[in-house]
Amino acid sequence: MANLPALRFVEVGPRDGLQNEHKTIPLNAKVAFINALSEAGLKEIEAGAFVSPQAVAQMADSEQVFKKIQRKRGVIYSALVPNEQGLERALAVKADKIAVFTAASETFNQRNIRASIAESLDRFAPVILKAKQAGLAVRAYVSAAFYCPFEGKIAPEKVIDVVEKLIDLGAEEFSIGDTIGRAAPVDVRALLEILLERINADKVAMHFHDTYGMAVANALSAWEDYKVSGFDSSAGGLGGCPYAPGAGGNVATEDLAFAFSASGGKVGVDIGKIKAAAALLQPHLGHPTPSRLGRIKV
Ligand code: HMG
Ligand code: MG
Repeated sequence: MANLPALRFVEVGPRDGLQNEHKTIPLNAKVAFINALSEAGLKEIEAGAFVSPQAVAQMADSEQVFKKIQRKRGVIYSALVPNEQGLERALAVKADKIAVFTAASETFNQRNIRASIAESLDRFAPVILKAKQAGLAVRAYVSAAFYCPFEGKIAPEKVIDVVEKLIDLGAEEFSIGDTIGRAAPVDVRALLEILLERINADKVAMHFHDTYGMAVANALSAWEDYKVSGFDSSAGGLGGCPYAPGAGGNVATEDLAFAFSASGGKVGVDIGKIKAAAALLQPHLGHPTPSRLGRIKV
């Protein structure tokens, strides 16, 4: 659509998509998946997480992933980083960008990263500073931005408060997470209405999980009603946080690309190749991928 921004996908399949899988995905399969995603036209790929291997065993080989992937020119390969130790690991393998992560819910944050929101922000201060000194871009996730699996509905003001503190720390992009996939467009509008009074829409990415089947509707609302252009998604629709009980997969990249494209958006990705990338994982999963388009020929 002429008056709406071109879409910017952040592919989180290799990190969020895989972190909750019970079977260990072989290193070579992760590498092939990421290489195929870059060939599908995705310009930003969260390739792994430098978190504690005790916390998320599936991400323990993220160093090897970064070393083995074929980096395509113009593609940003980012990594999730919880602390300075994670940053050192990300710098050692020359990640292009890091993503720190906190939440708008105290209980979820404690379960996920064993820190209060305030403690997590203190932890991030040197991480963000050093990352920027090293020339890395910094994104910050705010999880449980709509609903928390433990505290229920989260007030938009709590999200704004955390985002403002992250701005002060120097984060440059904010991914707003519907971690348990419970939000509906009415919730998205309530949050964006006040969030976008504080920051420009081009600094925001929406991170929708699709537990209740609302993710595509939520994304269309954010784009059409608020001109948000950044969206996190996962090829095949895999995903979920091990510390967020009941969380379904991320919205599937191919489903989102289809929805935007069908609505007149410029997506810049090849839907067939995204499906093919997700299909590479299939033999290692032990269950079908949840994506809608994955089940049909397009
Ligand atoms: P902790 O136990 O408080 O950390 O965990 P610690 O500093 O006390 O260290 C304990 C041990 O972990 C030590 O090892 C450290 O070396 C090690 P030991 O001495 O016992 O052998 N350790 C590390 N090892 C490697 N890399 C590191 C690292 N840090 C410590 N970076 C910590 C705190 C944050 C580290 C831990 O809780 C953690 O890693 N949590 C990550 C949880 C996670 O990855 N969750 C999923 C991602 S978030 C998500 O999915 C939501 C999102 O998608 C958005 C949305 O959907 O809303 C982003
Ligand atoms: Mg997530």
